[in-house]
Amino acid sequence: MAKMNNIVSEEIWDQVALTNPEFEILAEYSKEQFWNEEVKIDGLNKDMIFLDLGCGIGRVAKWVKDSVKEYYGIDFSKEMIRKAEEIFKDSQNVKFLVNNGKDLKLFEDDKFDMVYVNLVFQHMEKANTLNYIKEVHRVLKKGGIFLVNQIPIAEKYEGGLTEEEVDEAMKQFKILNKELNEFYFNIKCQK
Ligand SMILES: C[S@@+](CC[C@H](N)C(=O)[O-])C[C@H]1O[C@@H](n2cnc3c(N)ncnc32)[C@H](O)[C@@H]1O
Repeated sequence: MAKMNNIVSEEIWDQVALTNPEFEILAEYSKEQFWNEEVKIDGLNKDMIFLDLGCGIGRVAKWVKDSVKEYYGIDFSKEMIRKAEEIFKDSQNVKFLVNNGKDLKLFEDDKFDMVYVNLVFQHMEKANTLNYIKEVHRVLKKGGIFLVNQIPIAEKYEGGLTEEEVDEAMKQFKILNKELNEFYFNIKCQK
């Protein structure tokens, strides 16, 4: 069976941001639904510096910003970031940045208490996913948490990872939780 290919360029994400991002990625959940059914972030606190990798227009920011000290959202789509900045212009502890789609060079080592990635790795080449995972390790503080929702499996997706590749990529972390369903891995780990 042919693998699914959801790898999407920066230009296409810019188009999504310019046309209908609310529909595409900012589905209007209740806070409880979003939190319990999709995001599943626990352990936030007001001392935390939080990174949302592939933040889009800030759907996660909306629910996280008041529970952390600083929220950073990065995305390679300039239009997503432009829109996010517009939506959160009055939020003092929220910062959005455009990155290069490959690494976290924007940030120094050991900066973040938590890095979250929601519905992003299924849209990129495997080499970028693997590089981001390395970079997440670098920018997390010791003891910091990496929470990733949806690493696509190689069997089903172009750009997906095998279980061996996931284990190899994650070996520098302590795995706290690893779930595998028909399509994705969801992982919570600690530096
Ligand atoms: C499905 S949206 C999810 C957005 C957000 N995480 C959420 O849950 O609402 C995927 C986002 O990942 C971004 N993205 C895709 N590939 C990326 C890459 N290589 N580097 C940074 N951002 C990327 C896209 O621009 C888009 O905003």
